[in-house]
Amino acid sequence: MLSAERSKLLTEVGAGTPGGDLMRSYWIPVLRSEQLKAGAAPHQFMILGERLVGYRSPEGEVGVVDDACPHRGVSMALARNEPGGLRCIYHGWKCSPQGQLLEAPTHPDGADLSQVRTGYHPTQEEQGIIWLWLGEGAPPPMRKLAFSGLPDDQVITVTVKANCGWLQPLETLWDVFHAQILHNQTNRGSRRGGVYFSDQGRTMDNGVAYDYSQMHAESTDYGMKYMNVDAAKRTHFRFILPFFDHHALEPGEFADKGLQISVPIDDDHCLLWMVMYNKHAPLKADGFALQSLQGVPDLSNFVDHLGPRNRDNLWGQDRELIDRDESWSGVPNTSLLVRIFLEDLMVIESQGRPDRSREELEITDRALVLGRKRVLEAIEAVGRGEPAPAQTDDLSDVEALFELRDAPDQ
Ligand code: FES
Ligand SMILES: [Fe+2]
Repeated sequence: MLSAERSKLLTEVGAGTPGGDLMRSYWIPVLRSEQLKAGAAPHQFMILGERLVGYRSPEGEVGVVDDACPHRGVSMALARNEPGGLRCIYHGWKCSPQGQLLEAPTHPDGADLSQVRTGYHPTQEEQGIIWLWLGEGAPPPMRKLAFSGLPDDQVITVTVKANCGWLQPLETLWDVFHAQILHNQTNRGSRRGGVYFSDQGRTMDNGVAYDYSQMHAESTDYGMKYMNVDAAKRTHFRFILPFFDHHALEPGEFADKGLQISVPIDDDHCLLWMVMYNKHAPLKADGFALQSLQGVPDLSNFVDHLGPRNRDNLWGQDRELIDRDESWSGVPNTSLLVRIFLEDLMVIESQGRPDRSREELEITDRALVLGRKRVLEAIEAVGRGEPAPAQTDDLSDVEALFELRDAPDQ
């Protein structure tokens, strides 16, 4: 159980908040490259409570600026995307993708424009992702993650906006046992076979009892490693501060792997990324990544084609599917990854803003407790002026693993 004060530290992400300071110490993935087309309309978005506009100039250069013209604050989403930069439609001021004021038709000829401050934020584009630096001063080099530098055909990314705070999707990953309950029927229909339960969740479908106490979680420099052991498999997960979490998707070292990223939009909304990659070969049509996204029309809003889902319609839960025993959760039968995300979003959005001072945690919440502690420790370290943990480390070897087991541990 956390005090209300510490729970707040895990919730607030705006400028000047301790949590916001931690997150502004890292490069943040904010848009899929495909969302910015050269010369097209600027794209409005919000990250860490900051209203921003991203665009790609007609020459192909990416810029991210505050959604406010430096002159008098008009939305830059309304601006014209011209060669060389964005031009505000109100009085025609034009800024380069690097935030330099290039023209201000309302200034006298020859005026010095170099002192005008524009809200510019550095970007880098890698693996089809636009990464943003929202921190103060010059950004550090971008750290290497497991999929950094892979060819395009070895990586696929999808995003969805979630109506919950950034920590809740991570908490649901750290709570690995929920998969055996919430996702039991979804997993049952998947290639990796069912991990469904009977006997109040304590017995596998093959009749072998498993032991919740075999879950391990330990601190690392970059965050936390945690592992789940059951009768059929051993699954290793990795949490990388501040909001990256490596998944095991399928058995075997050479299988597709996944990295979920939970980027705060504001205190109560987040942008969820699923980056699926294969370090060894191009993604295969019958591999987890491509197969789990079959039929998804829009990878930037990858569950939205199923229509609105919110508290008013109980996230689209279909009771008839439950009554017919075709779905445990009432989520419709659709692409595998979409189903899993819909099930997760349904439960975590329904929490509202959780009051973590009023929980009843149990043994299966062991990794969740440590994960929160690691975030709080990182917030405190940055608050003391120390460098953010693993800010520039090479983390290319940090990833998940899913091992099948022949027999349970004795
Ligand atoms: S408000 Fe943008 S140019 Fe005046
Ligand atoms: Fe889940």
